[in-house]
Amino acid sequence: VRHERQLELLDRVLGYVDAKTTQLAAEESRVPVSNYTSPERLAQESRVLFRRYPIIVGHASELPNPGDFITHDASGVPLVIVRDAQGELRAFLNVCRHRGTRLVTEPSGRRKAFVCRYHAWSYRLDGSLFHVPTEEAFPSVKCEDSALVRVPLEVYAGFIWVTPTPGATSNVAASLGPFAEDLEAFGLSTHHAYKKVVSTPKTNWKIVMDAFLEGYHVKSLHQASIYRFFLEMGTIFDPFGPHVRSVGARKEILGARAAPRERWDIREYATVFYCFFPNTILVFHPDWVSHIAMYPNGTDRATYMHTMLIPKAPATDEERAHWEKTFHLIEGKVFQQEDLSIAESIQSVIHAGADTHFRVGRLEHPIHLFHSAIERALAEHPAPR
Ligand code: FES
Ligand SMILES: [Fe+2]
Repeated sequence: VRHERQLELLDRVLGYVDAKTTQLAAEESRVPVSNYTSPERLAQESRVLFRRYPIIVGHASELPNPGDFITHDASGVPLVIVRDAQGELRAFLNVCRHRGTRLVTEPSGRRKAFVCRYHAWSYRLDGSLFHVPTEEAFPSVKCEDSALVRVPLEVYAGFIWVTPTPGATSNVAASLGPFAEDLEAFGLSTHHAYKKVVSTPKTNWKIVMDAFLEGYHVKSLHQASIYRFFLEMGTIFDPFGPHVRSVGARKEILGARAAPRERWDIREYATVFYCFFPNTILVFHPDWVSHIAMYPNGTDRATYMHTMLIPKAPATDEERAHWEKTFHLIEGKVFQQEDLSIAESIQSVIHAGADTHFRVGRLEHPIHLFHSAIERALAEHPAPR
C-alpha cells in the first residue's frame, strides 16, 4: 500500500480505536443456509465463479526456469501452467488433442516437451503439436490446429491468474481497481513462494471464506493463539467491485502517535486482508504473506491451499527454521486447528435446520459483501438453456 494510503487507513483505524469501536455497516444482514448446502447453487458457482473470473493458480516464483510446470485441478478445469522456452508463462487445458488423455500427470516438474503416454503425441512448451507417430494415419490432423487448448493467463503482482475458459479475456489490474496499486506497493512480484500446503476440509468452501472476512472471532476463537497481537476494536473494511480489503489493528498501533508519521508502517500497526473475488484471501502478516485459495469439492468438502510468500528465499538453516516455525504457528495452529476446525464444526450440523439463515452482524459486513457479489455474478451469467 502506498504510504499516503497507509496513513489514511491507519488514521481511520485509530479513530475507531479511540472511540473503542469498530467499523459497522448501517444494517445487519443474513445469508441463506441453502447457499452452502444446495447442489444447484454449487453447480452455478462452479460454472461461473471458477470459470469466468481470474483465479490465482500459483506464484511466478514457483516456476523460475523454462520448462518448469505445475498442474492445477482444483477449479474443476484441468490445467497445466508452464514457462516456455522464451520465459513466458502459458496455461493450457491438460488434455491431449488425440483422444483426450490427461497429458501431464505430476503436480509439478520440469520438461523439454510434453509427450502423451498413450500414443506419444508430442507438444512443445508453447503448446504446439510437433510429433504424431505414424503421421500418415491422420491425414486430417494439422499441427497448427492441434495445439494444446490455451486459456488466458496473466502475471500480476507476482501471482499467476488464469481464467479457466478458452477464449475468455481477463484484465486483472482493471478488475482490482485501487487494490491493484496496493498489491504493487507490497512488492509481491519479488517475493518467494516458500511453502504450499493443501488440505480437503469437510466444509463448504464459503464457510472458510467467511472466517477470513471478519475479525469478530479473533478474541474468542484465537484467544490462546494470536489474539495477544491484536486489539479487539479498530477494524475497517472497504469494498471495490466484488473485492474487499479489511484492516485490523495490531497492539503496536497504540504506539503510533508517539512515532513520526513518515515512519508509520501499516504492516507493523495492522494486519491487512484482501478477499479477491471469487476465492482468494491474502493476509499481510508483519513480514510475510499468506495466500489462501478455496475451492469447492462438493457442497460439503473444500480444497484449501495455503501458500507462504516471503520476501526472499532463505539462505541459511537458521532462516529456514524461522520460517518453518512461523508457518507452523499460523497454518498448523491458527488456520487448521482454529479456523478450519470451526468451519467443519458448522458443516457438521448444517443440516439440522436450526435456522434458515445465518446472522451477519454489522461488524461482519464483508461477509454480506462477498455473498452479494456471488449473487450478482450468478445473475450476470445465467445458465445456458
Ligand atoms: S491420447 Fe494422447 S497420444 Fe493418443
Ligand atoms: Fe480466524
